[in-house]
Amino acid sequence: MRTPLVVGNWKMHGGLAEARELASGVRDGLKRPRGVEVALCPPFTALPAVAEVLAGSPIGWGAQNCHWEDTGAFTGEIAPGMLAELGCRFVILGHSERRHLFRETDDDIARKVAAALRHGLQPLLCVGETAEERRQGLTFTVVEGQLRAGWAGLGADEIARSVLAYEPVWAIGTGVNATPAQAAEVHGYLRGLVSELASKETAQSLRILYGGSVKPDNAAELTQQPDIDGALVGGASLQAQGFITIAKKSASRGGSSKE
Ligand code: PGA
Repeated sequence: MRTPLVVGNWKMHGGLAEARELASGVRDGLKRPRGVEVALCPPFTALPAVAEVLAGSPIGWGAQNCHWEDTGAFTGEIAPGMLAELGCRFVILGHSERRHLFRETDDDIARKVAAALRHGLQPLLCVGETAEERRQGLTFTVVEGQLRAGWAGLGADEIARSVLAYEPVWAIGTGVNATPAQAAEVHGYLRGLVSELASKETAQSLRILYGGSVKPDNAAELTQQPDIDGALVGGASLQAQGFITIAKKSASRGGSSKE
């Protein structure tokens, strides 16, 4: 049984005061989440403050990126060990904004994934096709290529410590989410690939999140699909109440998230 995971990707939003307020709101609204694991990924600068607010609560935290080296002359970069030191549980890697706006390659992402695992972080690898790629019928080809490349060189035990997110690029920040059927089709395909790349058992236990315009009113229909194990939430994670609703609606059918 996979416990659904709901992660807030705050992107480049929020100074310290807003970060503290938002993290406190989520913490107070999800004191005893049932059937769902929740984490917040604020900007790097807010991580210590968010860690302080969430310490001792069931809500985890993580970062939105990291470098692949442990230390060195890499101006402006953050090493995975620095994130581990702050108690991060997760690091989002290969987000389409990093791939497209900052030209991150599959090879960069693979190195980051391996580095994150070395430091005990769970890499949350994002894959997803553009609207044009979908139109051309390339969705499976694109996500398969990104997955194989992002996990290149990993052993089955390392894959087992990872999280995947299917984020169709055309659904990110657009208000147009994938339909549950569209998402479920890709999630099923990805799970089959996990089975091939690791093992059947790992494919059964690995969480595959959906991301792209997840909102309080579509969270349930998306996350209750059999192969969708939670959500990676951008815009809607900036409002505590809405994010809490998404987390509760994503809880496994067996459990309900109580305050
Ligand atoms: P969105 O972003 O929820 O605002 O579409 C999702 C993401 O980029 O992870």
